[in-house]
Order: sequence, then structure tokens, then C-alpha cells
Amino acid sequence: MIINKRIWITGASSGIGSELALQLAAAGHTVICSARGDDKLQALAQQSIELTGQIVPLVYDVTEDSKTEAVTAQLKGLADSLDMMIICAGRCEYIDNAVLETDLFRRVYDVNVFGAVNATSAALPLLEASAASAERLRQVGKPQIVAIASLSAVTGLPRAEAYGSSKAAMIYLFNTLRLDLQKRIDVTVVNPGFVATEMTKQNDFPMPFMMQPADAAECIIKGVEKRKLTVNFPLRLWLSLKLPSLIPSVWYRWLGPRLVRPESGKQQP
Ligand SMILES: NC(=O)c1ccc[n+]([C@@H]2O[C@H](COP(=O)([O-])OP(=O)(O)OC[C@H]3O[C@@H](n4cnc5c(N)ncnc54)[C@H](OP(=O)(O)O)[C@@H]3O)[C@@H](O)[C@H]2O)c1
Repeated sequence: MIINKRIWITGASSGIGSELALQLAAAGHTVICSARGDDKLQALAQQSIELTGQIVPLVYDVTEDSKTEAVTAQLKGLADSLDMMIICAGRCEYIDNAVLETDLFRRVYDVNVFGAVNATSAALPLLEASAASAERLRQVGKPQIVAIASLSAVTGLPRAEAYGSSKAAMIYLFNTLRLDLQKRIDVTVVNPGFVATEMTKQNDFPMPFMMQPADAAECIIKGVEKRKLTVNFPLRLWLSLKLPSLIPSVWYRWLGPRLVRPESGKQQP
């Protein structure tokens, strides 16, 4: 029997988020999909017509702090409670020649960090409602928060000062929230490697072990179903970053500097 979960995904209009929405709707779940652009969300809802579950669009810019309560009310209008939220809305900007622009950091942090805080706080009352329902707990288990961070936070990477540090903040935020919510809500942190999406189209450097969004979504869903604390993929990229990071002098004196572009490297202090 298919158990219909009520799931909210931010950043669901393209890439990893839209693949997650389609796969979860195909598995029979009701997926509320958010992003800033309505057109793509409507197109996604159209795509779900043939699927067992359904996709319900909800336009929401996660950076708008003042909208948090209104979004909670909108979510309540769509579902009595939520069994899962997936924080997938994200922004990536790289820095050049170690020039630290506050505005750039603010744009990236606004979506990846403060946006994650806003969306989570909007969803918490509905996740708590699921946790308080004996019937819901029996049917689908504890509600879940899934935070899409990044393998870029495993170790320092050139030009990723803003993006990587925002994802490191996300990882700390959700690992900590896991402790404070442990009795009622499970938290999974997901760290993908390179996935072929709009976000990585801008990258003009080698992206080893690149994955397709459908495969990335499959890895995420498998890990979330097992209620893993952390999901890192692809394994080969995770190992290539994690192992040297355990010996910082190997990464920062030997391997890491090889990734710095010559023109950037010249201007580094
Ligand atoms: N692709 C990769 O290689 C990779 C690797 C590691 C981690 N990730 C993470 O995976 C997540 C999804 O990325 P992706 O690769 O699928 O990128 P993507 O295709 O560019 O999707 C980003 C999504 O976030 C939404 N979004 C951006 N700003 C938003 C805002 N202020 N409010 C609400 N929604 C917003 C976008 O829709 P609108 O523009 O319509 O708002 C879009 O739906 C991100 O958190 C990213 O950091 C990606």
C-alpha cells in the first residue's frame, strides 16, 4: 500500500529539487513545490498529472523574512500537517582573485543560510503537528527535515569562500537542530557532489564525477528513506575530499593549491 506523505520542497522549480518532486510524486506522495518563479512550478504541476501523487505549486522567496508566518498559513491551507520538508533552494556565486565582496556573501547567505532558517521556521508548526498525531506517526513515522548542503563544505576549495562557508553553516545549523528536535523530528543533511543543473552550467572548471539530477534525486530519496543522518554522494568525490582533509597539511600545502587557477593564485596573499 502506498502511504501518501505530505512533503514541502523549497527550490523545487529546477535541477535537483524538481527531480525530487517528480520522483516523490511518482511514488504517490503529495509534494508542495516552492520557488520564486511561478511558470516553472506550474509546468512541473502539469508534468505530475499522470503520476500517482500530485504536485502543488506554492510561490515563495525564502529570503523574504516577513513572509514566514504567511507561508505557514498557506501551507496549513494546503495540508493539515507535513511529514517532510526538503530545503533545496540554493544560490552559488564564486569569488575571483580573493576579492571579498560583502554584497556577494550577503546574496549567497540570504538564500542558503537565512533562507533555510526562514523556510524551516515556516514549516516547523506543520512538522510538529505530524509529530503530535499518533495516527500520522503510526502511518509514516517521525516527520523529517532534509537539508541539501554540499560536498564543497568538506574542505576549503578555491573560489568557494562564500558558497562553501554558507553550506558549512547549513550543515552546522541542521546538525544542531537535529539534537534539539531529536524526540519529535528526524534531520538528514545531504551533501551532493557535482550535479548537471542550471547552477553548475556557470562552472568553467573540471567537475569530476558529475551526476545527472535524476540519479542525485534517487540517492537522496534512498538516504532519506533510511533516515540517515548524513548522505554524501558520489562516494568517490566524497572520499577524494574527505580523506586528505583529515591531514590538513596534505590538503592545504599540496593538493588544494593545485586547484587554484594560475591567474587567481598570482594575486593571493
Ligand atoms: N548542482 C550541484 O552540483 C550541487 C551540488 C551540491 C549542492 N547543490 C545544492 O542543491 C540545491 C539545488 O541546486 P540545483 O543544482 O538543483 O540548482 P538549480 O537548478 O539552480 O535550482 C535552484 C532552485 O532554487 C530556487 N531558488 C533560488 N533562489 C531562491 C529563493 N530566493 N527562494 C526560493 N527559491 C529559490 C530556484 O528557483 P527560482 O529561481 O525560481 O527561485 C531553483 O528552483 C542547492 O541548494 C545547491 O546549493 C547543488
